Amino acid sequence: MIAIEAKGLTKKFGNFTAVDNLNLTVEAGVAFGLLGPNGAGKTTTIRMITGLIKPTAGYVRVYGHDVMTEREKVIKNIGYMPQKFGLYEDLTVEENLMLFGRLYGLNKGEVQQRSNELMEFLDLKIFRSRLAGKLSGGTKQRLSLAVALIHDPLLLILDEPTAGVDPPIRRQFWEIFRDLNRRGKTILITTHYMDEAENCDKLALMSAGRIIAEGSPSDVKRRAFGGDIVEIVLSRPANLDIQGVKIIDADGGRMKLLVDDYSTRVSQIIAKLGPDLRDIRPVHVSLEEAFIKLMGGS
Ligand SMILES: Nc1ncnc2c1ncn2[C@@H]1O[C@H](COP(=O)(O)OP(=O)(O)OP(=O)(O)O)[C@@H](O)[C@H]1O
Ligand SMILES: [Mg+2]
Repeated sequence: MIAIEAKGLTKKFGNFTAVDNLNLTVEAGVAFGLLGPNGAGKTTTIRMITGLIKPTAGYVRVYGHDVMTEREKVIKNIGYMPQKFGLYEDLTVEENLMLFGRLYGLNKGEVQQRSNELMEFLDLKIFRSRLAGKLSGGTKQRLSLAVALIHDPLLLILDEPTAGVDPPIRRQFWEIFRDLNRRGKTILITTHYMDEAENCDKLALMSAGRIIAEGSPSDVKRRAFGGDIVEIVLSRPANLDIQGVKIIDADGGRMKLLVDDYSTRVSQIIAKLGPDLRDIRPVHVSLEEAFIKLMGGS
């Protein structure tokens, strides 16, 4: 099943094109990361997916429903955690949950039960009577997540949910996201933190309103470098003429190779070099390096 399908999605603000003819498919059940520098168009894309703003061109379907013409059905399926805290600061944690639950059409009993479950799940019980405006940053984010989950949506859209949150707390958030994903929620998430993006099943990298790379984290890395990188150590110089293997760096007996496919080429390299080969190992590439490369070194 397809959770999100966007075709030709475009948003112009006056003469400025914030999102430029974007095609995006997010399959149900995945954790999908939408990445890119400030101003790339991530939030604008999300706001079109949630139906908050109207595309200049193109369309979005959420679980097959058109966002513009079947608004109610779409809203029921989406839980949205916006980039800016959007809750009532002068209501308590529990009051916010109750209010949003009722807005989503849950009855009093349902909303009470869901609120309790979510306060339990997200460690909000001790804050239930505290005003939202008086919560710390991380707790505000947990409340914002709880509100996004109040109507038990199929799709969670999280716009920079961990921005400005300390690293240990960011890790806790990711445990929660993975947990929700395991329980069947599709997740679309934006983040600036590349280490977090490694947690996603699929990624799309946006730049200036367009998607410039897409795939699993390892796909994106291979795309950036044109293959896998392998480091070998040789006991003496040797000829390494194998199709699909390119030497990209050599320092004495230590060489970096770019191989088109790690699994098939490694055995060929081992066979060719025989006892001259002292060590062979894949080089870990970070997503950050891959993205810098894909963005043209900027
Ligand atoms: N309502 C608007 N009117 C005019 N320009 C806008 C509007 N909303 C967004 N933009 C512009 O569109 C571009 C994309 O903005 P957007 O917020 O989608 O980027 P983003 O990828 O979410 O960035 P960030 O990582 O900073 O959140 C930016 O240049 C922004 O200034
Ligand atoms: Mg944004």
